[in-house]
Order: sequence, then structure tokens, then C-alpha cells
Amino acid sequence: MPSRSDRILISSEQIQQRVREMAAEIEKDYPAGPLYLVSVLKGAFIFLADLARALQRTSVRIEFMGISSYGDQKSSSGQVKVTRDLDVNIEGHHVLIVEDIIDSGLTLSYLTRLLQQRRPKTLEIATLLDKPERRVQPVNVKYVGFKIPDEFVVGYGLDYAEDYRNLSDIRVLSD
Ligand code: PRP
Repeated sequence: MPSRSDRILISSEQIQQRVREMAAEIEKDYPAGPLYLVSVLKGAFIFLADLARALQRTSVRIEFMGISSYGDQKSSSGQVKVTRDLDVNIEGHHVLIVEDIIDSGLTLSYLTRLLQQRRPKTLEIATLLDKPERRVQPVNVKYVGFKIPDEFVVGYGLDYAEDYRNLSDIRVLSD
């Protein structure tokens, strides 16, 4: 349960407004036809669901990948591996990676290298949150919902020990 000391960083209304804006931008940028949204489990599932529903086209393909770190500390090891791969061949298709947050950039830099090898027609990234201060590996992100400071955030898909993902706003977790 959220405690009283949790502070709302981005309200549900702000998120919904920004998601609509991002969807409009994406619609404008891609030609008619299939758009593959590739999402990384689990944190991005709520953003993905809202973004997909805000898109106007009917050919939106939803795909999931699972990625985990080899060691204890993803941010320090940079060693990531695929635990669940795509079910489809993305060669020749427009692919948009949908993420909830970019922190060190290690996950996405690994994932973009991996997916690029499969020769999509285009490969871009949409993230709801970006913590630029934390970047270790540069990542070329086309669509950013909100740049946020280096604080521990939960809600709207993001967890702390698997809790809080269901909150409709984004909160800063404090003791
Ligand atoms: C989060 C987020 C990204 C990754 C970003 O996932 O969803 O995939 O971390 O961090 P990075 O830029 O430092 O690589 P997390 O490992 O928390 O898993 P979850 O989505 O299942 O909660």
C-alpha cells in the first residue's frame, strides 16, 4: 500500500495527457501499415496498453520480450540476457520499443543492438520516463514522456519488490 510519505511526482492526468501527445506524434511519424510495439516485461505493460489504445491505426502489433541481468547488479555489470524472445520475425517492419523507464541505458543499448541484427525497416524507442543523470550507456531515444530526476519512482507499471505497479500515478517512494 502507498504510505503517506509517498509523493506524487506525475499524476494520472498528466500521464494520460502525455501518452495521448506521444501517440499523436508517433501516428504522424509512421506511414500507414503495421507498427510493431515491442515491450520489455514487466514494467512497461501499463504504458504499452495506454499507448497502444491511443494510437489510431488498427494495425498495431504487440510483442513482448523478457530481459534480465546476469549478476546481482544490472547497473554495474551491464550483463543482460534474453529470458523471453519475440514470437515473430521483425525483418522489414517498423519496430518501436516501448519502455517504462531508461536508467543506466544498459538494457536498451543491449536490446537495440540485438533487434537491429534482425534487420527491421526502422527501430526506435519510446519511453515514458527518462533519468538522464543515471546514463552509463548512451541510447538514442526518439520519444520521451517525462525526464525525471534521480529518485526512486513507483507506479504505472514500475515496482518496488514487485509492489506498486498498479498505481495509476507515478510516485517517489520514501521511508
Ligand atoms: C527496468 C525498466 C527497464 C530497465 C531500465 O526494468 O523496465 O527495462 O529497468 O534500466 P537500465 O536503463 O538501467 O537498463 P526492471 O529491471 O526494473 O524490471 P521490471 O520492468 O520487470 O520491473
